[in-house]
Amino acid sequence: MKTYLVTGGAGFIGSNFIHYMFKKHQDIHIINLDKLTYAGNLENLKKVENNPNYTFVKGDICDKKLVEGLFKKYDIDYVVNFAAESHVDRSIREPELFAKTNVVGTVTLLNVAKTAWEAESGFKEGKKYLQVSTDEVYGSLGKEGYFMETTPLDPHSPYSSSKASADFMVKAFYDTYKMPINITRCSNNYGPYQFPEKLIPLMINNCLGKKPLPVYGDGLNIRDWLYVEDHCKAIDMVLESGRLGQVYNVGGHNERNNLYIIKTIISYVHDNVDSTVDESLIKHVEDRKGHDRRYGIDPEKIKNELGWYPETSFEIGIVKTIKWYFDNKDWMKNLTSGAYEEYYKKYYKM
Ligand code: NAD
Ligand code: TYD
Repeated sequence: MKTYLVTGGAGFIGSNFIHYMFKKHQDIHIINLDKLTYAGNLENLKKVENNPNYTFVKGDICDKKLVEGLFKKYDIDYVVNFAAESHVDRSIREPELFAKTNVVGTVTLLNVAKTAWEAESGFKEGKKYLQVSTDEVYGSLGKEGYFMETTPLDPHSPYSSSKASADFMVKAFYDTYKMPINITRCSNNYGPYQFPEKLIPLMINNCLGKKPLPVYGDGLNIRDWLYVEDHCKAIDMVLESGRLGQVYNVGGHNERNNLYIIKTIISYVHDNVDSTVDESLIKHVEDRKGHDRRYGIDPEKIKNELGWYPETSFEIGIVKTIKWYFDNKDWMKNLTSGAYEEYYKKYYKM
């Protein structure tokens, strides 16, 4: 039985990953280490909380003693590090917090795992540390081209810079100690359980509540959208078969601009839920500082080496996602900290 230490498992992608892994594998133990910040929500994990192969630990990845204790108590095979401060807008307001969690937290996990996994020559068999990174570390694209694993890192926001710094630390543990690692860099995820500060759940929630839909700048910035389950599948494959020390980009050529996404959501809601919801809710607001114009992933490496491909097109995934938020209105209402409403009022004044 393999034992996984999943950090940040109460967040959006981490909780989807835990559900995906228990559906896919019978004989695994998952320990979820999560600090439960505003973005961590144990409601995301209700379906697994009584599973005897699931253990929740509330704590901080920067807490070295706590992480050491977990490695002493359990024979951990895989570390999958999702834990992070993940929102660009917040990073512009609170860069220090991003450096702490995303960089210091990553180094703490790496160092404790290294000590626990070291053997007489090299590392114990079958161990791996996987860093969940982002395409944002590559910077911003013009109209042409894609991010490849060989694209030089050129992050702009405090968020992407902290993720790039963490990636360099992971690389250093491979280059220096030959620690078994992989890094995955995925594009923007969407799907169930995403906190409504990110574009898609925010727009769905605001459509539901008939609140204004804040569009930064001209709304023509492009992101490459990845359905979260496809991302979970990629992580599972990289853990099992990724070549040690390698970076894998994860994306499915689903580039869309922000206005297209917002109009798609409005149109679905208009046709299926409330015909009074329309484009008059769109409100152009001040642009994000240093706003990256376009992200686009070249996924050839993970396709060719591991046979990964995305199963969900954007058109199908967005409808599944909108329906999930409609079917789970209580999830939105019960968000643990209530921080969302406060944040929204403070910054958007709408
Ligand atoms: P999220 O904000 O929804 O969840 C982050 C989780 O980490 C929360 O449960 C939070 O409580 C926990 N956490 C925060 N600080 C912690 C700490 N110090 N110790 C322990 N737990 C802590 O984020 P997400 O969208 O699920 O993203 C997960 C990972 O994927 C992040 O590393 C992010 O950089 C990366 N990523 C996300 C996207 C995306 O589109 N969401 C895209 C690319 C990469
Ligand atoms: P976001 O979901 O914050 O992800 P990221 O910045 O990490 O790509 O934003 C996605 C895009 O949507 C980005 O171009 C910023 C834009 N955006 C808005 O126009 N309005 C909003 O309210 C939000 C949250 C984002």
